[in-house]
Amino acid sequence: MKIVTTVAEVREQVKEWRAQGLTVGLVPTMGYLHEGHASLIDASHRDNDRTVVSDFVNPIQFGPGEDLESYPRDIDHDAQLVEEHGGDLIFHPEPEEMYHEGFSSFVDMTVLTEELCGLSRPVHFRGVCTVVSKLFNIVKPDRAYFGKKDAQQLAVIRHMVDDLNMDIEIVGCPIIRESDGLAKSSRNTYLNDAERQAALVLSRAVFLGMELVRNGEKDCSVILSRMKVLIQAEPLARVDYVKMVDCRTMQQIKTLDRPALCAMAVYIGKTRLIDNFFTEDV
Ligand code: PAF
Repeated sequence: MKIVTTVAEVREQVKEWRAQGLTVGLVPTMGYLHEGHASLIDASHRDNDRTVVSDFVNPIQFGPGEDLESYPRDIDHDAQLVEEHGGDLIFHPEPEEMYHEGFSSFVDMTVLTEELCGLSRPVHFRGVCTVVSKLFNIVKPDRAYFGKKDAQQLAVIRHMVDDLNMDIEIVGCPIIRESDGLAKSSRNTYLNDAERQAALVLSRAVFLGMELVRNGEKDCSVILSRMKVLIQAEPLARVDYVKMVDCRTMQQIKTLDRPALCAMAVYIGKTRLIDNFFTEDV
């Protein structure tokens, strides 16, 4: 397993693999890897001859006042995890390698980014689409792997690949949870003990929503209000949003008459966490 920091080194390595007729999977990450990322690397290792993991805290997807500076970083730990899960190359660039002086081209998206995290984090998806497009151009993978925890991101990237005719298969992988239900996230490290306990309201609300859907509830307002009541009973929690959207368009719906995504963002203290379920997975 190798760690490289420049675009030229990635291209050289991938070119060598291509010359041998090998297939390549890409797992884009912002590092501080956990079992959720490990499951993406496992999936890529299963489907492809070689796996590249990008490990880059992308500054342009953070808005003013967000956690860019404090976002956890640990490349030694990441290297060990990637190695253990069969990754072959880590691309770990400095911001200047990705955004040289005068950088001024962005990939942006309309409709799918109007709701959910797109509404609360106005520059976020422009940053994500831009860096993921760059990574696709640098690595030119056959397949790329994204977690369903970032469900809107997954939908946005699938849509971008389709809109811009990118010849890459996008693979969505299930949410990985702690044994008590909390969805794995690098941001869980921000939580103190009391907040860690309080953060369980997210998964409890998800499980409640799933149960209501399983029992045949079709009225989204009923499902969402039951979930919100549960979250609001936790004093350390503050709801950013809990919404039901059409899976394809990411626009809000009132009735469960099509495949939908129920997504939430909740502040636990100062930490903003997300969780969700797809009605098709219930
Ligand atoms: O999901 C993430 O960690 C990031 O948004 C991604 C896709 C690596 C782009 O920076």
